[in-house]
Amino acid sequence: MSAPLIELRGITRTYGEGEAMVRALDGVDLIIREGEFVAIMGPSGSGKSTAMNIIGCLDRPSDGHYLFNGVEVATLDQDQRALLRRNYLGFVFQGFNLLARTTALENVELPLIYKGQPRAERVARAGAALMRVGLEGREDHAPSQLSGGQQQRVAIARALVGEPMVMLADEPTGNLDTKRSVEIMELLRQLNRDEGLTIVMVTHEEDMAAYASRLVVFTDGRVVRDEPVTEGAA
Ligand SMILES: Nc1ncnc2c1ncn2[C@@H]1O[C@H](COP(=O)(O)OP(=O)(O)O)[C@@H](O)[C@H]1O
Ligand SMILES: [Mg+2]
Repeated sequence: MSAPLIELRGITRTYGEGEAMVRALDGVDLIIREGEFVAIMGPSGSGKSTAMNIIGCLDRPSDGHYLFNGVEVATLDQDQRALLRRNYLGFVFQGFNLLARTTALENVELPLIYKGQPRAERVARAGAALMRVGLEGREDHAPSQLSGGQQQRVAIARALVGEPMVMLADEPTGNLDTKRSVEIMELLRQLNRDEGLTIVMVTHEEDMAAYASRLVVFTDGRVVRDEPVTEGAA
């Protein structure tokens, strides 16, 4: 079995104090290995996004240990965590989060600008990433000229362009109709199976979770189910 890429041990995240305290996560243990495609499900407010934000180093736990690729994230300072995000993690969100009035190619180039890569290299890599998601020929289109499914593909290309170790996707099909959702899930499955990309995805749709290889269910800030997804479910 491959080494743990993500290891949560006894992770707790509380908000507020006293009577008003909310336990968004309440002692979560979770190990995700390289090459896995994990779907996280659970009712609204069960802690899915909080867990994703901690895994993505966008938020810090109140208690417990988070190891990324064997490194205890709590020992990293703010700049080191930013570098970890930039170099090892790719993010995809429900709302695409693309810059309007900016072409598909430029949107995908953005993470490479932050990495300080020269323009020629950026353009080549961004073009290749757009090809990987099936958007060759759309490089010069602005988000408003693309369908929702195509916009999410641009966001996936942007997440992929830095060659991350893991892609974190919080409800990536939440704004898409069924047909587009299925296309996006087929793309994610292809990236996982053919390229070995590790994916952690939150969804509230069973049909979308069926594309993953493992299902983790949260309830009230705890993991209440963790099981393989039956082959052929999707
Ligand atoms: N910034 C915050 N401040 C206060 N409470 C929060 C905050 N973020 C999340 N929560 C609470 O933590 C719980 C888990 O939220 P969340 O992780 O967003 O759930 P999910 O993504 O499963 O819907 C909810 O009760 C939510 O209201
Ligand atoms: Mg959420």
